[in-house]
Amino acid sequence: YPESNAPLGVSVSKFSKNHILSSQHRLLIKGGRVVNDDGTTFADVFIEEGIIKQVGLNLIIPGGTKTIDATDKLVMPGGIDTHTHLELAFMGTRAADDFYTGTKAAIAGGTTTILDFVIPTKEQSLIDAYNQWRERADSKICCDYGLHVAITHWDEQVGKDMEILTKEKGVNSFKVFMAYPGTFMLADDDIYQVFAKCRELGAIAMVHAENGSVIKELEKEMSKLGITGPEGHLLSRPEKLEAEATNRAIMIAEQTRCPLYVVHVMSKTAADKIQEARLKGQVVFGEPIAASLGTDGSQYFNKCWHHAAAHVMSPPLRNDATTAPYLMDLLANGSLSTTGTDHCTFNINQKALGKDDFRKIPNGVNGIEERLAVVWTKGVETGKLDINQFVAVTSSNAARIFNIYPKKGRIAVGSDADCLIWDPKATKTISASSHHQACDFNIFEGLHCRGLPIITIVDGKIVYDNGQLNVLQGSGKYLHTACYADSVYQKLNKREIIREQLIKQQHIEREPYTGDVIVISKPV
Ligand code: URP
Ligand code: ZN
Ligand code: ZN
Ligand code: ZN
Repeated sequence: YPESNAPLGVSVSKFSKNHILSSQHRLLIKGGRVVNDDGTTFADVFIEEGIIKQVGLNLIIPGGTKTIDATDKLVMPGGIDTHTHLELAFMGTRAADDFYTGTKAAIAGGTTTILDFVIPTKEQSLIDAYNQWRERADSKICCDYGLHVAITHWDEQVGKDMEILTKEKGVNSFKVFMAYPGTFMLADDDIYQVFAKCRELGAIAMVHAENGSVIKELEKEMSKLGITGPEGHLLSRPEKLEAEATNRAIMIAEQTRCPLYVVHVMSKTAADKIQEARLKGQVVFGEPIAASLGTDGSQYFNKCWHHAAAHVMSPPLRNDATTAPYLMDLLANGSLSTTGTDHCTFNINQKALGKDDFRKIPNGVNGIEERLAVVWTKGVETGKLDINQFVAVTSSNAARIFNIYPKKGRIAVGSDADCLIWDPKATKTISASSHHQACDFNIFEGLHCRGLPIITIVDGKIVYDNGQLNVLQGSGKYLHTACYADSVYQKLNKREIIREQLIKQQHIEREPYTGDVIVISKPV
């Protein structure tokens, strides 16, 4: 922001202003290995005005360019967090991280784009809620962002608003909740309508998959049994109810021929449902999150109330140490596609709203800052993922699905200069005492990570450098995402043509029936 660098009272001419702009905003990343999802090359990367302008060796670089030495380091596209809830009003309180603290933390962890959820209240129009989110985010956000919109009730107006959001507001994804009855949950017939509308608009349907009605009954049972602590949250949300809802959402998506994206995959059996559908050719994507890849549900049985409550989220973490490595295996074999965080943080005193009743503990955990380090540590360091797959599941796949590729998710000429200098040997131990989030607890406390971003570049500027943040509030831009993402809809469009032909072929030409019809005098 060169204007602010000019001495007060000195007017900056157009020429010198441009000159200052470019010399400040030229970067050369030299000597690193450039890692994309489809390959790795030794190359230098030249950045100007927020865009990658050259990638290769022996580049001819203009004077006044700042050079970053990336010897022995990896140069990768910045992470895309597909699932955040910054400053969300939820369960009687508001998430602790706002669009400023949340994206600051994201950047410190190597994430340079977030996709947050607009969640309208039942009384609020989709457009009002969208505008509210834009207002909140635009003034604070430190990196680029896109918005998914949740549909919390269905009627004709909602359908019309979905159309406006896709055609005029840059939204290409809508989420339904199969959980949280009374607030966000939709019944199957309404889910059908939303998915059908998504298909009509070329959008992606997203789902929080859990059988909310059965969970509500099981919660009551826990209360009757005198279980009021956080373990009751897990005990009333069995894995089968996640798998069942995942399967149901997949079936409804199949019937509406709509692409489906399952958010926060927390269990093996839910992941299996996604894998099975993909094996049969259905266009379904699954998103495990930092929490489901980095910790587990044994935490709900911790003696310390707050420790246990801090892990309360829905669907819950599973009390099974094999779930996280299993989900990582499915990321590696392509059955799961992306990684998000569901970052929705609440401080100790907020979690305490449910000190006497686990049903009142605000649901949500952190991850926006830790996701890349967790995926590297649990995925690359264990030999499950190679470095290209790491880029795929932390960045490129999300960019393709949500139609921001190759602007985001790739190191290539013309792409946005959102990149990381990644040190595969760097280590740190995660702690709430040193994290950048606004929350006073970290579910990954004590996790020793290997593989970290040492420099984060957003929009061609170094915003994180070896522990030092240099972000600017409100500098991030809103991403208008277009519908009909090629990697989602190309196949579906083709299938639609074939389906119509097949249906027409099954149409039977008949002579009209001309015989007698009984007369019904009174209802039988
Ligand atoms: O517990 C969670 N996941 N909190 C955030 C809201 C949601 O369901 O994604
Ligand atoms: Zn309405
Ligand atoms: Zn959810
Ligand atoms: Zn969520």
